Amino acid sequence: MTTCAALVVAAGRGTRFGASTPKQYADLAGMPVMRHALMAFSEHPEISHVQSVIHPDDHQQFADAGAGLTLAAPVFGGETRQQSVRLGLEALADIKPDFVLVHDSARPNIKPETIDRVIAALSGGAPGAIPVIPISDSLKSIGNESQIMGSIPRDNTVRAQTPQGFRFQTLLAAHQRCQDTSLTDDAAVMQHEGFDVIAVPGDPDNIKITETADLLRMADNFMETRIGSGFDVHRFGPGNGVTLGGVFIPMDKALIGHSDADVLLHASTDAILGAIGDGDIGVHFPPTDPTFKDAGSSLFLSFAMERLRAQMGALIHLDVTVICEHPKLSPFRDQIRNSIALVADVPVSRVSIKATTTEGLGFTGRGEGIACQAVATVRAPARR
Ligand code: CTP
Ligand code: MG
Repeated sequence: MTTCAALVVAAGRGTRFGASTPKQYADLAGMPVMRHALMAFSEHPEISHVQSVIHPDDHQQFADAGAGLTLAAPVFGGETRQQSVRLGLEALADIKPDFVLVHDSARPNIKPETIDRVIAALSGGAPGAIPVIPISDSLKSIGNESQIMGSIPRDNTVRAQTPQGFRFQTLLAAHQRCQDTSLTDDAAVMQHEGFDVIAVPGDPDNIKITETADLLRMADNFMETRIGSGFDVHRFGPGNGVTLGGVFIPMDKALIGHSDADVLLHASTDAILGAIGDGDIGVHFPPTDPTFKDAGSSLFLSFAMERLRAQMGALIHLDVTVICEHPKLSPFRDQIRNSIALVADVPVSRVSIKATTTEGLGFTGRGEGIACQAVATVRAPARR
């Protein structure tokens, strides 16, 4: 059985990223950048061992990033990436895997198919295999004054990504022998020592985070759009008005309920909880709990928004339909929209309030109560 180890290098300081936290520990869709890569390798069926190389200052951050995953104890890296890789390879020397895949911790969007292609090339006999992507832009050399010096032919030129895969003993020997310390990837070290490396198709989304803007662009790859629906009904009783979306509307009846019976806020809360699969209003605020007796229902909506934001999610849109014959909602529509936008802390353009009657039919038609349905569209980290 062929064994394959992953070596994830993370000892760099991320000077071009320019944040106090090294880029590999920055948050990406609710988890550290590096954890995405660690998960990809530790979940890959052909990878038996995941070795990380870290900076001594980052011990705690690495422990957090790798929590719960099956990983080898990390080793410390060196001044350059080349040194870090060599130190990581030496840590694997006891295990002697057949293959090693060296990966940048700053490439979180590594798909199993790319890993498969590198391993397949090694299994086919290549001493080294790297994922590459074609270059579509023209290539220029540039001078110190921003002047274009000339054009570089693009034919036979590709961009190299990681993971770069090698026969373990060959790469270890190449790193230990190599005297040139200026090489930026392992394919260069191998070639410097006279070994062949072949190219396999890479993935344009397997981007290395270098600057802050790269992280923002990358976040989209890890988010998904989700929809939740909510529905609620409250019956009328005696009174002098109803509260809908936190706005008091005078009329000759009131809505009966454990809380303020704000049917609109209840349906909206359930829609948001539904979008993140987090139960419903009754689970979080049981009617049996006297704490919420006569509570203002904005509490429920702001709670649902907190739960959404705790998952690094955001409300894209909330669309609400109130179903009743009375009261007439149109005079209060803008006030309700503003009230909900304020509680949810989103721009008012992201909230829509509609109303309809049921043409005298059913319980709403008979004026026995008010029904409300809500649909929430949210953006949240993709679930596996
Ligand atoms: N790396 C490493 N040891 C080093 C330098 C880099 O393990 N001495 C790792 C980085 O952590 C990163 C990968 O090699 O995952 C690619 O390097 P790069 O993108 O250059 O990261 P940094 O060196 O951290 O960033 P910068 O060059 O902007 O400082
Ligand atoms: Mg660097």
